[in-house]
Amino acid sequence: MVSELFHEEELAREVARKLMAMAQRSADDASAERGSLLTFLRGPMERHMRYEEAAIFPHFQARGLAEEVQVALKQHAAVREATEALASVAQADVARSIVNVARLLLHHTNFEGDYIYPELTRDEWRELMKETVRQGI
Ligand SMILES: [Fe+2]
Repeated sequence: MVSELFHEEELAREVARKLMAMAQRSADDASAERGSLLTFLRGPMERHMRYEEAAIFPHFQARGLAEEVQVALKQHAAVREATEALASVAQADVARSIVNVARLLLHHTNFEGDYIYPELTRDEWRELMKETVRQGI
């Protein structure tokens, strides 16, 4: 069960790593992933962030982790901003925009992996992952 749940968290990291490698190899290949990346960012990633904001972060704030929560919230805002930028950027700048999103995703998953998730109980973690993989918004 736990390894299954961690798999979901790994997904964002995997997506980010692959896209960065792809962008270094071929800007055109990376650009071709714009649509699927936007689907991921607006679907699973958005639900994940919303659930954290509604159900996870308030508990952490109450437990004295207000600073960590503030950092995570700023990172969520940056991911959302970069998502909208990617959606509207001109074709010539898509690869650069994808690298920017990928970097933010890696930065954020590393931060949460180090400072947020270790503080979650097993049940809290399970609920977060259930919400992330839920269909629809
Ligand atoms: Fe997050």
